[in-house]
Amino acid sequence: MKSTAAAIFTFVAGVIAAESSGCSKTSLPDDIELGKPFDLDIDSTSINDTTSTRNYRIQVPKSYKPGNAVPLMLSFHGRTKTAKNQYHLSQFSNSSFGFEGIAVYPQGIKKVGTDSSYQWQGDVEAPSYINDVKFTLELIDHVEKNYCINTSQIYASGKSNGGGFTGLLACDADATKKIAAFAAVSGAWYLDKDTQQLPACNPSRKPIPFLEFHGIIDDTIKYEGGNNSRDNGNTTNIPAYINAWAERDGLDVNANKTGTLCSGYQEVTTFKWGETLQHYRYSNFGHWWMSEFGNSDKENVTTCKEAAATSVILKWIQQWSL
Ligand SMILES: *[C@@H]1O[C@H](CO)[C@@H](O)[C@H](O)[C@H]1NC(C)=O
Ligand SMILES: *[C@@H]1O[C@H](CO)[C@@H](O)[C@H](O)[C@H]1NC(C)=O
Ligand SMILES: *[C@@H]1O[C@H](CO)[C@@H](O)[C@H](O)[C@H]1NC(C)=O
Ligand SMILES: *[C@@H]1O[C@H](CO)[C@@H](O)[C@H](O)[C@H]1NC(C)=O
Ligand SMILES: *[C@@H]1O[C@H](CO)[C@@H](O)[C@H](O)[C@H]1NC(C)=O
Ligand SMILES: *[C@@H]1O[C@H](CO)[C@@H](O)[C@H](O)[C@H]1NC(C)=O
Ligand SMILES: *[C@@H]1O[C@H](CO)[C@@H](O)[C@H](O)[C@H]1NC(C)=O
Repeated sequence: MKSTAAAIFTFVAGVIAAESSGCSKTSLPDDIELGKPFDLDIDSTSINDTTSTRNYRIQVPKSYKPGNAVPLMLSFHGRTKTAKNQYHLSQFSNSSFGFEGIAVYPQGIKKVGTDSSYQWQGDVEAPSYINDVKFTLELIDHVEKNYCINTSQIYASGKSNGGGFTGLLACDADATKKIAAFAAVSGAWYLDKDTQQLPACNPSRKPIPFLEFHGIIDDTIKYEGGNNSRDNGNTTNIPAYINAWAERDGLDVNANKTGTLCSGYQEVTTFKWGETLQHYRYSNFGHWWMSEFGNSDKENVTTCKEAAATSVILKWIQQWSL
């Protein structure tokens, strides 16, 4: 009896939790039009725990109808890049990729003393008084209040420093209560200067679905780890990082199955622990977003459609929800 009541309660709570408070709104926020990007601000307490302004780009798809719950994809830019750059690079709002959710491109904080070096928590030069995990949670709350989000279908992704930050979210006890699955492109995971270890990783559930893409000719954040191209920090070896997720996810590190995609100079090797944990290794890619057409990272190097990061991510997330 007790367990039946608990089960019913959990079920009901789950159903209620799937629709965000913004589902009661009958119109869009004033400053938004469907199918177009907008650069907006929120009040945030992510810097020194005092109120300041943080920026993000958002695009609500043409198919959006107030009251109908849709997924939310967060896409974090690389260091020195911007929300706008990540919008063009990651293509989550390009309707030809078929994502019918809301895509949000948060923007980092400029490195002190620079005009344009936006960066995220996790980078060696990011000051400890900026809490980007807090900013992300505030931004999710804000989007949930203003739009109709299926709260069990929130995803995080990013490139380089933004991919490293996606990994920090996957390791955060609160963020893993809100975000269902995580995908990093050319992720930068820095080791602590003194201990040469990664920061603590404490997700609040298990397994955490994780997807990683990395090129073996990446000179900025090397596949084998070590010295970054700025010569100011060591990043982790990528297979070791993936294997650590296998352990945390309760999978046998050695039980991954390898596969091959694309051919010739574009060859990609995949390492998969079922659907939960997957790593794509590109033979012809440097520190660039893996795309089937040229982009601002790299005009003339492409991958085949089956290994294009945006399509792989959008397909893979469909099976994950909270
Ligand atoms: C936050 O605190 C740090 C160190 O106390 C200080 O250097 C910085 O200027 C502060 N930044 C803001 C935006 O308050
Ligand atoms: C939210 O997503 C879950 C998982 O895909 C689905 O089962 C549920 O029906 C969705 N809820 C709403 C309100 O769309
Ligand atoms: C949208 O994606 C298509 C390929 O699916 C591509 O040809 C097109 O250039 C992209 N549009 C933009 C604005 O990037
Ligand atoms: C780190 O790499 C840079 C080139 O990216 C090189 O100049 C430097 O000597 C390396 N430092 C160490 C300690 O290996
Ligand atoms: C990077 O690793 C090398 C070799 O382990 C070490 O000598 C160096 O101090 C590290 N650099 C930083 C910035 O952590
Ligand atoms: C996959 O399994 C092999 C053993 O079959 C192991 O050597 C390797 O470290 C595992 N992980 C990756 C990312 O290859
Ligand atoms: C891309 O262009 C550069 C020169 O801009 C050239 O060196 C390189 O070989 C080209 N790569 C491919 C795959 O065509």
